[in-house]
Amino acid sequence: MHARQRWLIDYRLDETLGSKPAMRQSTPEPGTGRAPSGVEAIRWRDGALTLLDQRRLPAEETWLDMPDLDTAAAAIRDLVVRGAPAIGITAAYACVLAMRARSAEHRGNDRAAREAWLADLDRLVAARPTAVNLRWAVDRMRAAAGQGDVVAAQERLERLAAAIHAEDQAANRRMAELGADLIEPGSRVLTHCNTGSLATGGTGTALGVIVNAWRSERLARVFACETRPWFQGLRLTAWEFAREGVRCSVLVESAAAGLMQRGEIDWVITGADRITANGDVANKVGTLMLASLARQFGVKMMVVAPVSTLDAETASGDLIEIEERPADEIWGSVGMTAPPGVDAYNPVFDVTPAELIDFIVTDRGVLEPPYEGRIAELVRAADAA
Ligand code: MRU
Repeated sequence: MHARQRWLIDYRLDETLGSKPAMRQSTPEPGTGRAPSGVEAIRWRDGALTLLDQRRLPAEETWLDMPDLDTAAAAIRDLVVRGAPAIGITAAYACVLAMRARSAEHRGNDRAAREAWLADLDRLVAARPTAVNLRWAVDRMRAAAGQGDVVAAQERLERLAAAIHAEDQAANRRMAELGADLIEPGSRVLTHCNTGSLATGGTGTALGVIVNAWRSERLARVFACETRPWFQGLRLTAWEFAREGVRCSVLVESAAAGLMQRGEIDWVITGADRITANGDVANKVGTLMLASLARQFGVKMMVVAPVSTLDAETASGDLIEIEERPADEIWGSVGMTAPPGVDAYNPVFDVTPAELIDFIVTDRGVLEPPYEGRIAELVRAADAA
């Protein structure tokens, strides 16, 4: 492996693993060291949570044990697990771990256990601010916990976490069908970041649409942006496409303009971290650039996201907190440290205004502009179901 890539994978590992002895490498599946079938990011087996360490991919497939909520929160913050739906699912399981720990600690005192648990949830929600799925999952868990006996609550929470995981798998399948149906045969598509099995509980959002369209022979070319500075596209999406048998070409983000200018792209297809009531989309930094280019060069823009990513309570994208990550993620990505007096500007998401988006594909149907009112309608329908 190239020395720079090695460094990229390692540079936050030492920091995280070194400071948290509770997060240790688990024994891999007997004889393989890899996921038992296909790609999965999150495992819940016999009440234990393990996560595939995405910082090490594709070089190594290492599963990390998550013994408690704080270890899981650190894993979310440090990008062991990433992608909006996967963060939400992980958070749901973390709530179960925390309720188990608090009810053991405060045996016989439900009120004290619940209070300590509610404080745990605040730390979890703070792990990453932009993807709304984190807050969405924790809100559902909080509501399900109710007021009574915490041991009974723990059982309810475990069932709900598994349901959130299964719902995401079903949502992925539905979006893959709905999105692929929009794509004309012979299309050339461009995607950004990683939105596949690593980012969700199932087959993915945008990546699931592309894999489905590829299998139904609608796609002539697939392009994936490398996605600086963390290289989700180069490291994760390329790996997933290879495992799915999809031929893809990786490009640096700045090559996208020329491709579109030459008429070589028909669709930009991305996921989302949060979609506000008016249809604005927060997603991986660079999405706004791609959507703006798409509009400039007559390319269609599709955003694929489950209802858990819709935030009808936030009116518009300018109200979304955009996560900024440390400068060392930029310098470290090329094996360097910043020269004296220089730092970096490292927002990891941006907001694409609704007017640049032609389709929002959700598990409850496909939306077209104007989005105002329709996002809230979908959320209401999902809550009522
Ligand atoms: O920083 P990341 O890797 O968590 O960012 C992920 C994205 O921006 C994805 O596009 C988004 O979460 C949708 S994943 C189905």
